[in-house]
Amino acid sequence: MLGSRQRPYLKPYIYIIILVSVVSIFLFGTYVFPPRSSFICYIFSECINGEFNQRRPIASRELTDAEIASRVVIREILKRPLAQSKNPKIAFMFLTPGPLPFEKLWHKFFDGHDDRFSIYVHASREKVSHSSPHFVGRDIRSEKVAWGEMSMVDAEKRLLANALIDPDNQHFVLLSESCVPLHEFEYVYNYLIFTNVSYIDCFDDPGPHGSGRYSERMLPEIEKKDFRKGSQWFSMKRQHAVIVMADSLYYIKFKLYCKRTKDGPNCYADEHYFPTFFNMIDPGGIANWSVTHVDWTEGKWHPKSYRNQDVTYELLKNIASLDKAAHITSTAPKRVMFKPCLWNGVKRPCHLFARKFYPETLGRLSHLFSNYTVVV
Ligand SMILES: *[C@@H]1O[C@H](CO)[C@@H](O)[C@H](O)[C@H]1NC(C)=O
Ligand SMILES: *[C@@H]1O[C@H](CO)[C@@H](O)[C@H](O)[C@H]1NC(C)=O
Ligand SMILES: *[C@@H]1O[C@H](CO)[C@@H](O)[C@H](O)[C@H]1NC(C)=O
Repeated sequence: MLGSRQRPYLKPYIYIIILVSVVSIFLFGTYVFPPRSSFICYIFSECINGEFNQRRPIASRELTDAEIASRVVIREILKRPLAQSKNPKIAFMFLTPGPLPFEKLWHKFFDGHDDRFSIYVHASREKVSHSSPHFVGRDIRSEKVAWGEMSMVDAEKRLLANALIDPDNQHFVLLSESCVPLHEFEYVYNYLIFTNVSYIDCFDDPGPHGSGRYSERMLPEIEKKDFRKGSQWFSMKRQHAVIVMADSLYYIKFKLYCKRTKDGPNCYADEHYFPTFFNMIDPGGIANWSVTHVDWTEGKWHPKSYRNQDVTYELLKNIASLDKAAHITSTAPKRVMFKPCLWNGVKRPCHLFARKFYPETLGRLSHLFSNYTVVV
């Protein structure tokens, strides 16, 4: 009886034979069928043209299905020339809680340039009544926006989606209620229509307010070395706006894991999603600075806000003629990095707009407008 319960006895050399056979089959297998990741790299280096290869080196790890799909879609959008518009326009997208204190100044800026711009207003807190005919009827459906949260990115995407409906819109600028123009319309139009990049601010901040906000839960798609920071005030080409519409993979990662929390790293999605995303998918296609100037040199939680007594011809002229973009890290000690602003390879002033201005400055700005904007 006991014997029937006993396991069949195998001699030790049988184990050795089985082990050797398994190892040989494995080695033979990897020789004939290389590991899948390099198999995928092989496919990609075949089907992705040289330009894309340079822009985005192939990851050494195995890509997920969603990543492969995402890369294919993005590559197709970047590669395809857009349908030429007979009447190219710039979409000016105002993201504001309520009324636009500088609407009169913007009216001056836009006046006489009909058919070369479209305006979109996302007023997230209250309904806005407009005084300028350029702004009347330009409000889009809005939703509540919380500072630093994904609802901010959602509002930016809502503006982009509405602006993309018009096929003539070729370049898309995000502006806030405290932004003012630094140059005349003609200058801004030519700067943006004929540029070959999007002005998305992007830099590597190794400090607590940069990579310190990264969460490993963004893996495997987003590694810490990919994580970037930048001001939310972007301007982008139509192709990039379409890519933003197409992205759900990276969007979800930021929605879930880049959040303001009481415990753990506080992450501000609107300062990281676009910089990180574009740095990963088209680093050579973004300028890495923003055409909207803001002064962080005071080192406070919020940038410098200009009062009436600050607004002089010299201040505006100085901001408008800056030709190096500054980035300040949050490390201790902090580092300030300057990079020359190159427009299609030529050194030019970096900024077309500036913030933040208190509403009280409207009078002085309007008075000075035609004088400072002609300075190039
Ligand atoms: C922006 O930064 C990325 C990454 O540092 C770089 O590869 C790219 O060339 C920069 N873009 C421009 C227009 O210089
Ligand atoms: C933009 O133009 C400059 C100058 O011709 C060139 O060096 C650069 O590679 C171009 N960038 C893109 C993304 O086409
Ligand atoms: C603008 O410039 C003109 C010519 O230089 C000058 O006469 C005028 O006073 C200036 N206006 C203001 C508001 O500074």
